[in-house]
Amino acid sequence: MRKNFGVKPWTYPQPVFIIATYDENGKPDAMNAAWGGISDNNQITMDLSASHKTVKNLLKTGAFTVSMADAAHVVACDYVGLVSGNNTPDKFEKAGFSASKSEFVNAPIIEELPMAVECKVINYDATTGRLDGEIVNVSIDESVLTEDGKTDLSKFEPIVFDPINATYVKLGEKVGNAFKDGNILR
Ligand SMILES: Cc1cc2nc3c(=O)[nH]c(=O)nc-3n(C[C@H](O)[C@H](O)[C@H](O)COP(=O)(O)O)c2cc1C
Repeated sequence: MRKNFGVKPWTYPQPVFIIATYDENGKPDAMNAAWGGISDNNQITMDLSASHKTVKNLLKTGAFTVSMADAAHVVACDYVGLVSGNNTPDKFEKAGFSASKSEFVNAPIIEELPMAVECKVINYDATTGRLDGEIVNVSIDESVLTEDGKTDLSKFEPIVFDPINATYVKLGEKVGNAFKDGNILR
C-alpha cells in the first residue's frame, strides 16, 4: 500500500543552496533556497520569491553566486533562510559569513562555504519566480579537494534538505558509480 499526500513540493534530496548577492552599495546578502537545480551545461534555474532582498539585489547587479551549505555551517545557513536583508541589513555579518568579490561576476563568494557557482542573471520572471542564471565559473576551496583535483565529500560534507521532516541531512556513503553500474543490465 502507498499513501497519497496530494500536491506537495517534495522531492528527495533537495539542495541547500545559499545564494549570495550585493546590493547597489556593495553590501552582501545571502539566502537559503531549496527549489533549484542545473538546467543546462552552463545554466542554473531557481524559484525565488520577488519580495526577497536577494532578488532585488540580483536584478540590480545582474549577478549572484550559489554556494552549497555544509555540515559545519548549518546554523548560519538556516539563519539566512529565516531572516530577510529587507529588514535585517547586517544579516550576512550576523550569520558569521565573510564576503570576497567573485573574480567573474559582481556578486560575493561566501568564504566559509567551500564551493560556489558564479552566475550572471539571464532572466527573472516575477510572476513565476523563475530565475535562470548563466554559470560563468565554479570555484572550490582546495581544502575539500583530493590531490587529483576532485571533491572529497568526507572533507566537504555538503548537506541536503528533507522537506517532509524539515531537517538538514549530511550526504551519506557512496553506493555506486554513475554512468557505469547500470551497464550491467544492458
Ligand atoms: C530550508 C529553506 C529553503 C528555502 N527555499 C527557498 C526557495 O527555494 N525559494 C525562495 O524564494 N525562498 C526560500 N526560502 C526562504 C528564504 O531563504 C527567506 O525568505 C530569506 O529570508 C530571504 O532572504 P532575503 O530577503 O535576504 O533575500 C527557504 C528557506 C529555508 C529555511
